[in-house]
Amino acid sequence: MVSLNRLFFLPGFCFLMLCVLAPAFGQTVSVIKAPYLLWVTDTEAIIMWETNAVRQARVTISPEGGGTAVVVDVTPATVVAQAVCTGLAPGTRYTFSVSTTGTPSQTLGTGGFLTDSPGPREMTIGVLGDTQELAANFLLNNTRLMKHKPELILHVGDLMTNGTDASQWNTQLFTPGKDMLRFAPMYVSFGNHESNSPNIRKYLPYPETMTGNPVDSRGHWYTASRGNAFFIFLDSQYAFTPGSPQYIWFNGVLASSAFRNSTWRILCCHYPAYSVGWEGYDGDANMRTYLVPLMEQHGIDLYMKGHTHSYERGYLNGVTHIINGGGAAGNETWGRNWPFIVRYDLILQYSVIKINGDKLEFRCYDFGNKLYDKFTLQKGVPFTLPGTPVIVRGPKSGPVGKQTITLKYPAGEGGRFRYRIGIEERRSEDGFWTPTPIMYRAGQEITLPVDFKSSGTYHVIAQALDAQYRASDWVRSEAIVIQ
Ligand SMILES: [Fe+2]
Repeated sequence: MVSLNRLFFLPGFCFLMLCVLAPAFGQTVSVIKAPYLLWVTDTEAIIMWETNAVRQARVTISPEGGGTAVVVDVTPATVVAQAVCTGLAPGTRYTFSVSTTGTPSQTLGTGGFLTDSPGPREMTIGVLGDTQELAANFLLNNTRLMKHKPELILHVGDLMTNGTDASQWNTQLFTPGKDMLRFAPMYVSFGNHESNSPNIRKYLPYPETMTGNPVDSRGHWYTASRGNAFFIFLDSQYAFTPGSPQYIWFNGVLASSAFRNSTWRILCCHYPAYSVGWEGYDGDANMRTYLVPLMEQHGIDLYMKGHTHSYERGYLNGVTHIINGGGAAGNETWGRNWPFIVRYDLILQYSVIKINGDKLEFRCYDFGNKLYDKFTLQKGVPFTLPGTPVIVRGPKSGPVGKQTITLKYPAGEGGRFRYRIGIEERRSEDGFWTPTPIMYRAGQEITLPVDFKSSGTYHVIAQALDAQYRASDWVRSEAIVIQ
């Protein structure tokens, strides 16, 4: 027989139990940011996600080849959750799953990654930049990029239009990028469009890998190692002039054993030192003055950047300069010439870096997914540049208008070469000095047009480029007076 007291308390007890169990029973959450890889080292992975309500969760990380899973239970303090998964085996492919705990459990997302195996080995790295507001372009580019199965993505900045708008982190990055970000961590050198927003450290809180960052900039500039490569990420929205915290930190990195013992040294920074792609912007003068000399002095192999929505490549004093800013934004105009930049186009693009020990192969794919540019760097092999061509017949002084120049590769040399000519005094006014699309036999005379558009005293310059667009020194004509 049920007592009166028990009858009285039963409804209250049921209500109380409902309140306790409700969050875990039957109430699913909405996934705002599907689980994404923030960071992966040889033994650690950091996975993050965001839901519309705080929920306890469990991350299960399983070796693809079988073996014991690593399980991490997370009690998030906020709707943005993070799981730091340690104790992983180096050089191992893992799958992961993130689920809420309780009954019923809800899967929030899955993915996979490769832990690093330090030292020389094969690895594939993707490169994106300036993806911003045209999310459909970004989705197409990152879908194509992932077919190359990169284990790491480098992003050279400008992830969205305005980083202070939290919704754009979803509409322009995490939603169109979700199937990329769950299979490879993406390390970003932040750009001006991230607006130095607190959202950077909220959604992409890269760990502190070297001491010396002031607290407010932690995660804005950082380093990472992968295989035999060392990556430096600078934030061009913070000062990098001598005496600034970032400059002091950068010098510390260059002196570190991790940097000095690496085979490949790749620096990512949103701002380019040199740019031909934008009218009115030839690159960042402070980068040229303060950072490029350090890159040359300390053997940076690749300086990857964006900002200009183009693809550009040049080799200067040992450093290969790449602008990889064609991630999605596009729609720009041409600018001017920096004579050492040999490849340039206003294309939507992504790039793939393949490293295998002492060899680095770089490929850029355009928006038709066609190979647009490729080159190889090889340690221990001299970086042999072509010889300087000779001018067989040069333009002559005379009226404004079109003339020709006839060039020849030096006698006795074999191989095929393309040529590029320009008017030295008009590098800021003329369109990019595009190399000839076809290659000519050494010794063959090749005649190219020269257009003198205005009066003045000019020197025509010309160079030869090999199959990888490695360029010779310039040959320079006598002074030509155009009236
Ligand atoms: Fe930018």
